[in-house]
Amino acid sequence: MSINNFLRKFRIEIISNRRESTKVAMEKFEDEPLIVAEIGVEDGYNARDLQKALNIKEFHLIDICPTKKAFKMKNKNEKWYLCPSSEADVPKCDFIYIDGSHEFKDVKIDLEKYWEFVEEGGILAGHDIQYLDVSKAVLQFANKNNLEINFGDRRDWWIIKDKRR
Ligand SMILES: C[S@@+](CC[C@H](N)C(=O)[O-])C[C@H]1O[C@@H](n2cnc3c(N)ncnc32)[C@H](O)[C@@H]1O
Repeated sequence: MSINNFLRKFRIEIISNRRESTKVAMEKFEDEPLIVAEIGVEDGYNARDLQKALNIKEFHLIDICPTKKAFKMKNKNEKWYLCPSSEADVPKCDFIYIDGSHEFKDVKIDLEKYWEFVEEGGILAGHDIQYLDVSKAVLQFANKNNLEINFGDRRDWWIIKDKRR
């Protein structure tokens, strides 16, 4: 058993500032093998924690310009898309985390596009809800589609894709 699997199985958390939506995904999916995507990877800080927290079978990492540090973590389950998020072609995912451009028009595009790639019963989440552009886009999207948004620690938000929708 790998160290990550061991920590996950016994719910041992070494990183204390884990993001709230990651914790929600851990509770919801437990040890289920997941397809995950992150939009906006930068140096891979959150991506590395997602690898530890969840049992990821396929990890789709999208960033127009990630740092060199991000590539040090390359794991076998990762697929990189070095392009704008609007151009990446990912499969249906159980968990998608939006943290790319924080400009209103870009967040709006990410929300509309990636919602379609969330499996029924999956989670669409994101970071930096404290920014006006991000919160405006998330609130408008949820309102338009009659969806319930959750807000949590570490500036996270998330929406669970109800099976009935
Ligand atoms: C806030 S950082 C991501 C931080 C990372 N999610 C974390 O928490 O560790 C934002 C990243 O989004 C990328 N980005 C910005 N606009 C983008 C776009 N339109 N498409 C894809 N990536 C984009 C930037 O290159 C940057 O690396």
